[in-house]
Amino acid sequence: MKILIVGGNGKIGKKVSAHFSKKHEVIIAGRNSGDVSVDMADSASIKAMFESLGKVDAVVCAAGEAKWADFSSMTEDDFYIGLKSKLMGQVNLVRIGKDYLNPGGSFTLSTGILADHPVALTTSAAMVNGGIHSFVKAVCLELTNSIRINAVSSGLVEDAVEIYEDYFPGHNPIPMKKVVNGFVKGVLGHSTGEIIRIYDNC
Ligand SMILES: NC(=O)c1ccc[n+]([C@@H]2O[C@H](COP(=O)([O-])OP(=O)(O)OC[C@H]3O[C@@H](n4cnc5c(N)ncnc54)[C@H](OP(=O)(O)O)[C@@H]3O)[C@@H](O)[C@H]2O)c1
Repeated sequence: MKILIVGGNGKIGKKVSAHFSKKHEVIIAGRNSGDVSVDMADSASIKAMFESLGKVDAVVCAAGEAKWADFSSMTEDDFYIGLKSKLMGQVNLVRIGKDYLNPGGSFTLSTGILADHPVALTTSAAMVNGGIHSFVKAVCLELTNSIRINAVSSGLVEDAVEIYEDYFPGHNPIPMKKVVNGFVKGVLGHSTGEIIRIYDNC
């Protein structure tokens, strides 16, 4: 299987890439590293990436940014960071990428626990994650050629604990193996329109 992994060199992406590389052809995409260059916040860049790659069997996204800050300080432009990158970036990966997926292919997107259990400073990140959940449930009804779509919604992952643990009091970190398995379910499973939730103690 030829699997494109956007963000395949990030904390989550590198574990997902390592797993799939054992049995599949993996192509890593990112702005600053990887096999192919893409800025998912720019639809022209997404189109150029798919044109250079040709057809793939699966698209995994382990990328997408949103601004974390207290709501009282958030400007309209601050919200557009998450809307352009994590939300529309992933919507555009699907909107454009569906024409480059082989029949029976799949999209596996990334959201996160904030959609269901937000913490302070995450009005933008939580909103964007929730929007992607609704997008996945709606677009699965319209994708053709047996193309599937799911989203992996994980809690704080073990490899990112040092960065984020102060924001998630009382949360049990998610082992990387469990997160990777969420993406395995998305790519190799048969479900579509599923939000693959990987939470602990929420
Ligand atoms: N960390 C967690 O605990 C956690 C939990 C649940 C959900 N998530 C979500 O999972 C995703 C990955 O998280 P992570 O912690 O692995 O992040 P990360 O370590 O920051 O890695 C993100 C990767 O995505 C790439 N990237 C970022 N913006 C991009 C863009 N506009 N276009 C193309 N590539 C881009 C980066 O590479 P370049 O810099 O080269 O572009 C980087 O390799 C995020 O959406 C995050 O919200 C994370």
